[in-house]
Amino acid sequence: MRLVIFNGSPRGLKSNSLTIMKHFQEGIQSSSSENEAETVNLIEYQKDYSPIHERLIKADNALFAFPLYVDSMPGFVMGFFESLLVLKDSLKGKIFLFSIQCGFPETINLRAVEKLLERLPGKLGATYGGCICRGGMEGARYMPEDYPAFQKYRELGKIYAETGKLDPEILVELAKPERIPKPMMLIARMLNFTGIFNGYWNRQLKANGSYNRRFARPYKP
Ligand SMILES: Cc1cc2nc3c(=O)[nH]c(=O)nc-3n(C[C@H](O)[C@H](O)[C@H](O)COP(=O)(O)O)c2cc1C
Repeated sequence: MRLVIFNGSPRGLKSNSLTIMKHFQEGIQSSSSENEAETVNLIEYQKDYSPIHERLIKADNALFAFPLYVDSMPGFVMGFFESLLVLKDSLKGKIFLFSIQCGFPETINLRAVEKLLERLPGKLGATYGGCICRGGMEGARYMPEDYPAFQKYRELGKIYAETGKLDPEILVELAKPERIPKPMMLIARMLNFTGIFNGYWNRQLKANGSYNRRFARPYKP
C-alpha cells in the first residue's frame, strides 16, 4: 500500500501536525507488511498545487493532517481540497483519511469539522476512511518521543498498515478527554485567576511583539 500524507499546517516542518504524522508513519514502517508512506508539506505548494496532484494520483490512499483553525481548517487546506475537484475521475477507489488536532484540550472542538470531512471524500470521487481527532496538541512538537499519545499514533499506524483500518479503540483513547469533567472545569476556572494558563500564550505574544496589544479590538465600532 502506498500512502501519501499531506501536512496541512502553515508551520510546515515545525508543526505539531508533522510531528504527529512522523509517529503515525513510523508505525506504518514498523509493520512487516509492504508499505510506503511519504509526506508532503502543503504550505510549500500553496501558490500552485498541480505539481503534487500527481503524487496523490500515484498513491493508493491519502491522509490529510491539519490543525483546527477557527473551528475549521486553514484556508490553504480548503484551497487544496478545491483544487482536487478536477481530479475527480482519477481519485475513484482511493481512501481518504484525516488526522486533525487542536489547541483547546477538549476533542469535542474537532467534531464539527470531522462531520464535514466525512462527506468531503465523496464529493471528490474518493472514499472516506476515518478521522483521527485529538485536542490539547499545541505543545506536541516539544514532547519527548515516549509521550504516551505518540505511542498511540504509532500503534494506529502499525495496525493501519496491517489491516487498512484505523483502530476504533485507539481512536477513542486518543480523543480523551472528549469533554473536561465538570469538577475539573470548576478547578480550572479557579486556577484561571492565578494566570497559570496564560504563561505559554504570553510568551508567544511577546515573541511575536504583540503582547502590549493583546486586548486590542481593531474592529470595535
Ligand atoms: C489562527 C489560528 C486559529 C486557531 N483556531 C483554533 C480553534 O478554533 N480551536 C482550537 O482548539 N485551537 C485553535 N488553534 C490552535 C491550533 O489548532 C493548535 O495550536 C495546533 O496544535 C497547531 O498545529 P500545527 O503546529 O500543526 O499548526 C488555532 C491556531 C491558530 C494559529
